[in-house]
Amino acid sequence: MTDLDYSSKIKEAAEYITGIVSEIPDTCLVLGSGLGPLTDRAEVLESIPYAQIPHFPKTTVVGHEGLLLVAVLSGKKTFIMKGRFHYYEGYSTQDATFYVRVMAKLGVKNLVMTNAAGGINTSMKPSELMVITDHISLFCDSPLRGPNLDEFGVRFPDQTHVYDPKMMETIQSCAKELGIPLHQGVYAYTRGPQYETPAEIRALRTLGADAVGMSTVAEAIAASHSSMRVLAVSCITNYAAGISGQPLSHEEVMQNANASSKNSIALMEKFFSSI
Ligand code: HPA
Repeated sequence: MTDLDYSSKIKEAAEYITGIVSEIPDTCLVLGSGLGPLTDRAEVLESIPYAQIPHFPKTTVVGHEGLLLVAVLSGKKTFIMKGRFHYYEGYSTQDATFYVRVMAKLGVKNLVMTNAAGGINTSMKPSELMVITDHISLFCDSPLRGPNLDEFGVRFPDQTHVYDPKMMETIQSCAKELGIPLHQGVYAYTRGPQYETPAEIRALRTLGADAVGMSTVAEAIAASHSSMRVLAVSCITNYAAGISGQPLSHEEVMQNANASSKNSIALMEKFFSSI
């Protein structure tokens, strides 16, 4: 995609959405594994299938529906992305972050993401939650590669605060009030779809990672490039490879994501009532 193509696609998608949504929310919440049922707790005002939005990629993962919702959660109007796009599905990082650019174009200020992650730091148990304080993107093809999108941000963006310290603080106090343990840590991105080897996990631990996963980082980079405030919460769904001695499986990941959904939904509801 050339610069012009990508920019005009973003514009067309944004225009399509403004044709349906008259008042643009200032937040977009991206639902990771286990958070699907959160939409039962929200009043859905609009439901737009991704397939209807010009140039939106289609989701291919079972359990990741492709719907853009406009909803009221804890009294706050928000976009909800039900289903996201992963590099391992075959998308480029530019495709996977297309929706982030569309949100930025619409004037959305906050990107709140949830995901499933393997725990590298063993102080975190499966089904517990971790707020991402920073990430390791070394294995992530940058979504900013290619001509810079000057309308969004600079060519060489600073990455000191990709994740918004204020939103982190807010969600920590929400967790405290609810009595939900909320760890903090560094999330390392891997491309997947295969899980990591034990040697890779040892390497990531040496690099300073507390958790590992296959999403979120490219989106956080695109969002911070667009001057959006970013918050991301991982559900630790399993001990990372080699830690427990047991093989990893998608079933275990989904089971623990679902086991934590009560806490993650309560936490998100509280957070939305606080912003
Ligand atoms: N590795 C990568 N991605 C993941 C994992 C993991 O262990 N668990 C959930 N998503």
